[in-house]
Amino acid sequence: MCGIIGYTGKDDAKEIMLDALELLEYRGYDSAGIALLNENGTQIVKRAGRVKDLRNLCKEKKPVGCCGIGHTRWATHGGVCDENAHPHRFGRITLIHNGIIENYRELTEKYALEGKLASETDSEVVAAVLEHFYEGDPYSAIRKTVLKLKGTFALAIMFDDQPGKIYAVRNVSPIVAAVTEDGAILSSDVAAIVPFTTDYFVVPEFHVICLSTDGIEMFDLSGDKAEIDWLKVDWDVSRSGKGGYPFYMEKEIMEQPQVIKETILPRIRDGKPDFGKEGIPDEILRDCKRICVIACGTAMHAGLVGKSLIQAMIGIHVDVVMASEFMYNDPVVDKDTLVIAISQSGETIDTLEALKFARKCGSPSISIVNVKGASIARASEYVIYTNAGPEIAVASTKAYTTQLAVLYLITARMAVARKLWSDEQLTAFIDELCRVPEVMEAVLAKKEEIHRLTGTILNAKDVFMIGRGLDYSILLEGSLKLKEISYIHSEAYASGELKHGTIALITEDTPVIAVVTQEKLKSKEFSNIREVQSRGARVLLLLKENEELEESGQWSSVFRLPVMEDPFMVMPASVALQLIAYYVSLDKGLDVDKPRNLAKVVTVE
Ligand code: AGP
Repeated sequence: MCGIIGYTGKDDAKEIMLDALELLEYRGYDSAGIALLNENGTQIVKRAGRVKDLRNLCKEKKPVGCCGIGHTRWATHGGVCDENAHPHRFGRITLIHNGIIENYRELTEKYALEGKLASETDSEVVAAVLEHFYEGDPYSAIRKTVLKLKGTFALAIMFDDQPGKIYAVRNVSPIVAAVTEDGAILSSDVAAIVPFTTDYFVVPEFHVICLSTDGIEMFDLSGDKAEIDWLKVDWDVSRSGKGGYPFYMEKEIMEQPQVIKETILPRIRDGKPDFGKEGIPDEILRDCKRICVIACGTAMHAGLVGKSLIQAMIGIHVDVVMASEFMYNDPVVDKDTLVIAISQSGETIDTLEALKFARKCGSPSISIVNVKGASIARASEYVIYTNAGPEIAVASTKAYTTQLAVLYLITARMAVARKLWSDEQLTAFIDELCRVPEVMEAVLAKKEEIHRLTGTILNAKDVFMIGRGLDYSILLEGSLKLKEISYIHSEAYASGELKHGTIALITEDTPVIAVVTQEKLKSKEFSNIREVQSRGARVLLLLKENEELEESGQWSSVFRLPVMEDPFMVMPASVALQLIAYYVSLDKGLDVDKPRNLAKVVTVE
């Protein structure tokens, strides 16, 4: 949460930072601010509101300088107001912070800061502690301060008497950095760096970097110079814009056929799934007795689909645990439990902490991550990257379906490792997986039809989504999508469970979305649909193209899905559900990409 940017060079830092903050705004958008440092001192411009509001304020205040730091905030400590916006300043120190300082109260007391702080934030306390320790050597002050901090932090710091220099240090919260033509840049993620260069590095935890017009230096906390491990952006840089779509979410939905191809094709060799490049030994897929998936939100929903696949096709037990609950349920994981951590950002702290705990218990681990070099990728034994490219909309779409694609590949590789399938079975599975992009294209080609069908939902207060088995798993995700971007209360419900209480909520004012894609569940699902229709509910039905529909005249809203083998119907159905949520939000005139109260990367527990 929160986006941070730092730039030093020869160009106007204000413009560079405002542009970068717009790219980082998806990480938090409660307030925004920049600070510029030059020979005449430090000038801060900040305010509650969006980056566009900050841009307007900058036109008035006209800050000047070629070295600066900038921040876009998702509020944790202290409300949304101008004073709590970053950068914060104390004495000779100006800083921005992403993360949470858990012991800020103790530090306030210890350094007698009560009454001296201008904001209610934990971040300003860090500036004050730095000021306390600063005697002209930034590295020493940072080292001493960091040793006092408990919590997570990505800090970018400017010292009044060090013009042209930006220092940064982190624990858990991410910082990436790069050298530009005439200076250097740091950011919370590569999105803000790619306009300058495709070469970057992830700042290791508890290492201090210094950016100047000469480049970047890095030291560990003992003061020893450290080597930089350079990475290269390996996605098409032109993909980072909106590509002519009104919102990133639509663009990212439309990109799915392509990114699914990019995720699966490099991992199929001689018709078999292959994780050789990832170095994943077959033994861990063959010998594990159970699997535990840890993830949050959409990524957890992908895990639920994985559970259905693996239990049905491999026959081993799979638990899917909300990462935020993992530690509090006395998890039973051991060397026989393969832990799969799923995360788009690779920075979700709940998932990261759960993964670290599982590793301490001796579990082998694979992570499925989108962002290269992210903390979860580095904390797991093996990593499979989804090649979704940057996902900017807060609502996850292409990351979800590429996570699913990886879970299909893992299922197939497990079957190979355990010698469970004949060659014919394997070929049929892989061929069907390779058909996913074209099937998704077919759904996307009918997006206007889906748009028209959303009319019944637009003014609803509550929406129910019902289905069984895999259909229920898909709907959990479809429902999350709808509620997070349309603010309509929506619940996915296992349709057989409705009659045990929740059906009391169904009236003629409660639109119901039903998904029926699984042959073995079809008749029971239709019975459940009849039950809600009898209570007056209007049902929007998602059904396979080749499925006959009894009393077809009675159905006002039916969307036909291109046909795949049942385990793969998740893919076309998910795309349709994403589009439903998208069009409802769009037609309500909401900010589709930046829904209220949310942030893309969740680095607080
Ligand atoms: C869904 O649209 C959300 N963006 C959210 O549920 C997200 O999937 C969750 O916060 C996990 O994020 P991660 O994949 O980056 O770990």
